[in-house]
Amino acid sequence: MQVEYGKNKEEHPHPVKAEVRGSLPEWLHGTLVRNGPGLFSFGETSYNHWFDGMALLHSFTIKHGEVTYRSKYLRSDTYNSNLEADRIVVSEMGTMAYPHPSKNMLNKMITFVNHTVPDFTDNCACNIIKYGNDYFATSETNYIRKIDPVTLETQDKVDYKKYVSVNLAISHPHYDKEGNSYNMGTSIANKGKTKYIIFKVPAADLGKTQAGSDWTSPLKDTEIMATIPCRSMFTPSYYHSFGMTENYFIFFELPLKLDIVKMATAYMRGVLIHLIDRRTKKEVDVKYYTDTMVVYHHVNAFEEDGHVIVDVIAFDDHSLYELFYLDKQKELSASSTVVKPTYKRFVLPLMDKPAETGENLVKLKYSTATAVKEKDGKLHCQPEVINEGKHAHLSVQAFKLDVETKLHDEWSAENCFPSESVFVPRPGATEEDDGVVLNSVINCNPGESDFLLVLDGKSFQELARASVNVELHMDMHGFFIPLHDAEQPPEGTAEAQTPRFFSTSTEGEIRITKILKEKFPQASSLKVVDISGGCGAMYEIHIESDDFRGKRIVQQHQLVNQVRPRDRAEETEICVDAYCTDDYRKPPNSPIQAELKSELLLEEHREDR
Ligand SMILES: [Fe+2]
Repeated sequence: MQVEYGKNKEEHPHPVKAEVRGSLPEWLHGTLVRNGPGLFSFGETSYNHWFDGMALLHSFTIKHGEVTYRSKYLRSDTYNSNLEADRIVVSEMGTMAYPHPSKNMLNKMITFVNHTVPDFTDNCACNIIKYGNDYFATSETNYIRKIDPVTLETQDKVDYKKYVSVNLAISHPHYDKEGNSYNMGTSIANKGKTKYIIFKVPAADLGKTQAGSDWTSPLKDTEIMATIPCRSMFTPSYYHSFGMTENYFIFFELPLKLDIVKMATAYMRGVLIHLIDRRTKKEVDVKYYTDTMVVYHHVNAFEEDGHVIVDVIAFDDHSLYELFYLDKQKELSASSTVVKPTYKRFVLPLMDKPAETGENLVKLKYSTATAVKEKDGKLHCQPEVINEGKHAHLSVQAFKLDVETKLHDEWSAENCFPSESVFVPRPGATEEDDGVVLNSVINCNPGESDFLLVLDGKSFQELARASVNVELHMDMHGFFIPLHDAEQPPEGTAEAQTPRFFSTSTEGEIRITKILKEKFPQASSLKVVDISGGCGAMYEIHIESDDFRGKRIVQQHQLVNQVRPRDRAEETEICVDAYCTDDYRKPPNSPIQAELKSELLLEEHREDR
């Protein structure tokens, strides 16, 4: 059977209990939050590329041997704009949209002529990042969206540019033992001043804060750790991750170029490897480079005996990106070998004495990687190949590799497609594989359900699987949040000091609840939450009633948006999730909804006076 990358998926924002087979470790408590594209068409328009789909967050919460699942679309501005227009109006990487009425061609021309950076999408469908004590859905533009990791609700929109001068920022930060986050972005400027910036967001002392006007972004204390000039004046390189050791940052400046205006890629030659000393915040004097390759993900980096060792997954070219065009996906079978990832180890010697031209400066006995000094003083680095992969179209196995012995273990099952693996260490573990490996698995066997797979970190044997009676989506990346971080704020934290958000109702919540009760007297469940923290800027409504039946997901969402009071759309946003007990349905343009909208508007006007 085939995995359908471009299929629109339903969201399941209320917890769905999973059926656990096997045995979950007693110590395993927390939530695995994952992110990836799940909606690929609006009206008659469709995205061309899998990466472009609307972000669908989903989570597995593991507690006392039980697992619950939920999923929810990120309510980004992009999502809402597409929904309202019933077509794609915001450009993504692989889909250039028709101009939005409010952003006409003249606007776009000015953007192009001035070579300034267009406003990017906030469809954050790549990963989950922790900054301070807050969690964000992220992609690779200047926008990230704060989320509630428990309910998966969409909260504040954060523009990196307000805190650090980057127009693009990646989704693979590093975290140190103190909880500080380190990430990297590109600052695009005229006259050849384009540069890469590595920045640090410090750990926060307080617990999670609520969303809305009282919320203070942890990015306010962002510190610049290094700036690296772009080697090409106008076209910065594309990159997806970077390396970090105790004392160094490692950045591979790839030949894969990003055309910021067209959001398309071009190709050049050679890779420049930047090694930045974290103590001085400066690049080391030595220049390292290697042959053409494309790297998306760094694996590991560490220091040993005067060398920096950095492991990456490399590809010969950028055909991996091409592979995920949705029309191409349909032509491929699960067994197609299309691109080959290679696990490469680079060893960068830290030179402290003069060397001869032609000398290999790598002195590590266990690696065949070389770094040869050339006439111009640069070091030409050749990697050691640790492992060569087989497939990249679909993930058909979870894989554990011992990089010293080169031996590996794997998990696979027929017609099952695991996601990226997330390792969760056992509390108190001293060995690096003492813990579990979590994977979200798409199961294409007829009559069987998708599931969360729990593997033992040491033996790589299956400990348990938690099957969910809903359809999972192919996602990109995820983050495991230990239970005490996600749901149990310690005493004295900001969250603990603001119980109102969870325990009592605001005036606005009471008012909207009253209206809905009158309009949907048969509703079996109704909950109204001011998700703006009590200021009335944004409400989320959960309602279950037999009044909702028989509509596709896009139509359902359109109807949801119609409840929003349009004359105050800038100030007040209302998001509704309406359900039948067995489905997720709403009636389009029904008189009852029109009436509800009118009443809400009237109420808002009364409040104004
Ligand atoms: Fe990634």
